Amino acid sequence: MAADYQGLELTTESAAAADAYSACMRGYMGYQTDVGGHLKAALAADGEMPMALITRGYFFHLFSIPALERKAADCARAAQEAIAARGATEREKWHLAALQAWNVGDMEGATDGWEQILLHHPHDVMAVRLSHFTHFYLHGAGAMRQSTNRILPAWDDNRPDYGFILGISAFSHEEAGDYAAAEAAGKRAVEINPRDIWATHAVAHVYEMQGRQDEGIAWLDGLSGQWAGLNNFRFHTWWHKSMYHLEKGQHDAVLDLYDREYWAEPSDEYLDFTNAAAMLWRLEYQGVDVGQRWSVLADVAERHHRDAIMAFADAHYMMALAKDGRAAAQAMLENLAEAAQGAGDQARVTAAVGLPVCRATLALCQDRAGEAADILLPLRDHIWRLGGSHAQRDVWAQMLCRALLAAGRFADARGLLAQRTATKNNSPASWRWYAEALEGCGETAAAAAAREKAAC
Ligand SMILES: [Fe+2]
Repeated sequence: MAADYQGLELTTESAAAADAYSACMRGYMGYQTDVGGHLKAALAADGEMPMALITRGYFFHLFSIPALERKAADCARAAQEAIAARGATEREKWHLAALQAWNVGDMEGATDGWEQILLHHPHDVMAVRLSHFTHFYLHGAGAMRQSTNRILPAWDDNRPDYGFILGISAFSHEEAGDYAAAEAAGKRAVEINPRDIWATHAVAHVYEMQGRQDEGIAWLDGLSGQWAGLNNFRFHTWWHKSMYHLEKGQHDAVLDLYDREYWAEPSDEYLDFTNAAAMLWRLEYQGVDVGQRWSVLADVAERHHRDAIMAFADAHYMMALAKDGRAAAQAMLENLAEAAQGAGDQARVTAAVGLPVCRATLALCQDRAGEAADILLPLRDHIWRLGGSHAQRDVWAQMLCRALLAAGRFADARGLLAQRTATKNNSPASWRWYAEALEGCGETAAAAAAREKAAC
């Protein structure tokens, strides 16, 4: 029996298949573009290799596109047949069960499967990365960090790709609010491998959350030369750089990064779309004319308005459809209402949060700010269920504040903006909005003080 590069057994007689599979794993950990090629090579060498078939299914799911979801089910069937014919390790059988759970929308069940694997095999990098991904979209920071902490003692400098695990740990710490631990782990990972874009990104999040924009810009400028041959995740990292420029009021720099780096071409990758839509939404709140860019996004969103695979992505598709006045926005609400009745965790998230957020988004774009505020205010502490990072989800915090201000509900806005300025103390825009709320409440002196903070 062969083994992967971490020493985990693989049910194949083909050394070439095992080597190609290892290259695939390493490429996946490193966000490289050659991952698919290595997986094809593994399957060319051994078309019935269980882990290669299962991984193919996993990768189809990661695109969050309906046609590929169906192909993932084919992969599970092929892996099941292969395992029936040649047998498999317990670990491989757990992976098959995880894929089968994911195939029916049970991301929780899939995550449980990977966590079970990691209790026994903490060097299973596929389980590490996938559980990190699904905790990110399902459970938030605490679960991500707990998961990472369980495996970290099994890793050290002597093991290949230790840095990638540090990067995953860094991001988990960052989302959990331990910025010092995140920065230390992320920078150590980048020392080990400057091309580790996930670790680079974890540190970028620290700078974002701590309002250290100049350091963030320098950090990403210093490392961007390392990103050749990496996949579209580099676009999201450019998006982070534009977030710093946005906070600094450098709107031309934001649009330049948007047009040249992360939306140079229309993309059907959901992460690319979320970068673009959330940035246009933020830019307009800063009074920036974004030209025809919404229309370009809306063309893409129309292709996905019936996806209903990931509530986080749906909420961004709705931004573009609503902003561009597309009829598909209403059709999307109806489709989401139907999807919310289905099984699976994303159906539950859609019912509780995704659908109401989409309704609020459309209401805002149709000058029904009061209705949007009514929907969003009771959801404000539940938005995390959509998944994504604190930085990404802030767009909905902004949406709620602006809805309240537009609806003249200044007392409600005052409280939320007090909360916002407490954590974003050097954010001029947040202080300006706070001043607007205080003025609306008749607190003229406090409003003047807030405006002064905005000018600092
Ligand atoms: Fe991010």
